Amino acid sequence: MRKTVIRWLGWLAWCLPAAAQVPLPVMPWPERVEVRPGSLAIDASLSIGLFGAGAADPRVQEAARRTLARLARQTGLPIVPREAGSASNATLRIVVEQRDHRPPQRLGDDERYSLEASNAGLRLSADTPLGALRGLETLLQLIQQSSVNAPTPGFSVPFVEIRDEPRFPWRGLSLDVSRHFIPADGIKRTIDGLAAVKLNVLHWHLSDDQGFRVESKKYPRLHQFGSEGQYYTQAEIRDVVAYARARGVRVVPEFDIPGHASSWLPGYPSLGSRPGPFRVVRERGDPPGLIDPTKESTYRFLDAFLGEMAKLFPDEYFHIGGDEVNPREWSSEPRILAFIKRQRLGDARGLQAYFNRRLEQILARHGKRMVGWDEVVHPDLPKSVVIQSWRGEKSLAEAARAGYRGILSAGYYLDLMQPASQHYMVDPLKGETAALEADERKRILGGEAAMWEELATAENLDAKLWPRLAAIAERFWSPESVTDVASMYDRLEITNHWLEWLGLTPRSNLRRMRQRLAGTMPAAALDAFASVLEPVKGYERHRNGYGASMALNRLVDAIPPESDSAREFAKAVEGYLAAPNAARADALRQQLAAWLESAQQVRPVLEKNSLLTENLPLDDALVMLCRAGTEALSFQADPPPADWKPRTLAAVQDATKHYASLMIAIAPPVQKLVDAVP
Ligand code: ACM
Repeated sequence: MRKTVIRWLGWLAWCLPAAAQVPLPVMPWPERVEVRPGSLAIDASLSIGLFGAGAADPRVQEAARRTLARLARQTGLPIVPREAGSASNATLRIVVEQRDHRPPQRLGDDERYSLEASNAGLRLSADTPLGALRGLETLLQLIQQSSVNAPTPGFSVPFVEIRDEPRFPWRGLSLDVSRHFIPADGIKRTIDGLAAVKLNVLHWHLSDDQGFRVESKKYPRLHQFGSEGQYYTQAEIRDVVAYARARGVRVVPEFDIPGHASSWLPGYPSLGSRPGPFRVVRERGDPPGLIDPTKESTYRFLDAFLGEMAKLFPDEYFHIGGDEVNPREWSSEPRILAFIKRQRLGDARGLQAYFNRRLEQILARHGKRMVGWDEVVHPDLPKSVVIQSWRGEKSLAEAARAGYRGILSAGYYLDLMQPASQHYMVDPLKGETAALEADERKRILGGEAAMWEELATAENLDAKLWPRLAAIAERFWSPESVTDVASMYDRLEITNHWLEWLGLTPRSNLRRMRQRLAGTMPAAALDAFASVLEPVKGYERHRNGYGASMALNRLVDAIPPESDSAREFAKAVEGYLAAPNAARADALRQQLAAWLESAQQVRPVLEKNSLLTENLPLDDALVMLCRAGTEALSFQADPPPADWKPRTLAAVQDATKHYASLMIAIAPPVQKLVDAVP
């Protein structure tokens, strides 16, 4: 009961009118929040004191130092990132009860913390170093510029009492570095972001048809022939793993086999199911290759390779992929068909199950628990395997009923360019999984967002991940009841700005890319034009083909997945149509006039730059939409000429078409305005 009341108070504080509001720009929203009147000013004298057995943990000491450095950046205050001491009058007292003596970080490790800001200062308490790391992120989010009514200008923390812990123990991002390679600095930046929003797993998808991205000393032809020189050295991997550990993030490697395995075969063709030669898949139409599960030499190879990787990646879990195996290649080889028959495996699926069983035994010998995509579920597969569902909650529910632990990824595919709200509404324990019995529900460990890199690169990765990943992080961390989409978007916007201070580039990278498109002309008009555009959704752009030689430097690559201004406009249109009044109509008219002006201003920029001319039809459509919307507003009282509505609706409908893989995100709300004309 107490828990509910405190949570409710937190929401109340968030919802209070502006004057009384104590905004809490925190994402993910904590388990319990109590906001009190008043705030604590933060200035350059801020000091940190560490107490308890856990104070000696290097992760806590480094995090304290990093916190000071980040605060200096975030506030512009001359805070010196000095060592934390043990002075009892420190501004921020961090008490960590236990020292964690058993690396690596494990699934289910305690991440609880409590944080209090009051007249007495700041106090962060946690049982474990991991809890302290989580609490420091919350604190950094809470420090914002003081209101004009504050006694001194600058920065402050509102008086709060927070008790926080995650809803799910497995909260991750699956990141593909095969389709497009992401160098180690991009991985570290992504880990900074994961830790900032309390995600705790980087699932590193390290091999696929398009590239093998890890140096192997046992089998060097893997990276030599499978990566075009774009791979991580073992020293880099160790460095990234240590970087992640310092930030409370587990690194789970994935080597996807037996399908998605073309990049293994140029260097080691005898692993293939058909005779070679093989090549890495670069362009559409390049034939993929499948690993041969019938040869003992395959298992000797995998034993040695996985043994090498098991040492490189200390996490207890190890992902073997297992998705999208096309059985045709196996069923067209008489040798493989004979094996299936001899071993009484039934069919290709039975053969994959045999392969997975052998893999599971190899991994167990190397001290690892196996994770696989949901296709690996089979009656013969041990229940110790963790199932990652990309095919839907139904298959996750089936796996949990069958006794497997599982994580949900269906609904969290960031490469599909869906809005944050859509991912936010997906819950690992709603939908099909809601009907699970209590003991089956416990098997749902959490979820992972997934970012596949067919159409993203190291250059725009940050904008493809953020801020939407923060909304998904909230789904995995915060109580199930935290579902208010408007509050989510308010905090998402603030979180996105905050991530830039952490060194991520979700906005700045796109701005740079748009300036490149504008060439020697100013980018402001292009920015305004781009602000109402969105990339096409789903796999539509993939269907036009993609490949390693394709340049991802067009306007569609230089805009966020979701248009904030279109979303706000759609909301304003809803408000107006629900209760029309002059002020609301005027606000809509002004917005449309501003967009019309930018549509006209951007014209010469689109006409003069070779990479932008493909967007001219969108500009025409935007001009038409702005005029149609403005006319619709003027006709709400005075009925238009008889042919206006059908003619305009047809034109607006036409503007919902896609050009250059882009869509105009304000077309649907304009259509609503036109529809509403009597
Ligand atoms: C997958 O999306 N094939 C895991």
